[in-house]
Amino acid sequence: MILPMYILGQPMLRKHAEEVPADYPKLQELIQNMFETMQHADGVGLAAPQVGLPLRLFVIDLNALSDDMPQYKDFLHAYINPTIVEASEDTETMEEGCLSVPGIHENVRRPKTVHVTYLDEQLQPHDEWLDGFLARVFQHEYDHLQGKLFIDHISSLRKQLIKKKLLAMTKGRVSCSYKVKS
Ligand code: NI
Repeated sequence: MILPMYILGQPMLRKHAEEVPADYPKLQELIQNMFETMQHADGVGLAAPQVGLPLRLFVIDLNALSDDMPQYKDFLHAYINPTIVEASEDTETMEEGCLSVPGIHENVRRPKTVHVTYLDEQLQPHDEWLDGFLARVFQHEYDHLQGKLFIDHISSLRKQLIKKKLLAMTKGRVSCSYKVKS
């Protein structure tokens, strides 16, 4: 089932999300719905607060990048109760966008590699270092669980330049191909 996407201005996007309890009902169904919602919107990542649930859960789909980056062939995963244990001092800048902030793309500087832990969709624990595009998307999605958005990372000058667009968005003027809740 495709879920409506919460858009900038929705208070849910600014909440600190709660851990997913071990007995959370219908967790698999929720993960499937998040996969479907992300793919319908052509996203590479989607966090639970973006579909209105204040839970520490996100999904990542990097298969669309596999033409250039074969290591991401069929890469589709859920991350439950993730943590970032450590981040490299080495940073890099990449352009980011967000399904909750449609039409905006901005350069964001983030650590290049991150040491993370999480449970996968079978609730198996993982402890690993991520790099490249995956490290980038993981950090972007992790921010959503902290009530943070990628536009919080951009310079005040850049923010000034897109201020009007962001304000319009918070007032419900949104143009995108998927169902939204603004
Ligand atoms: Ni996002």
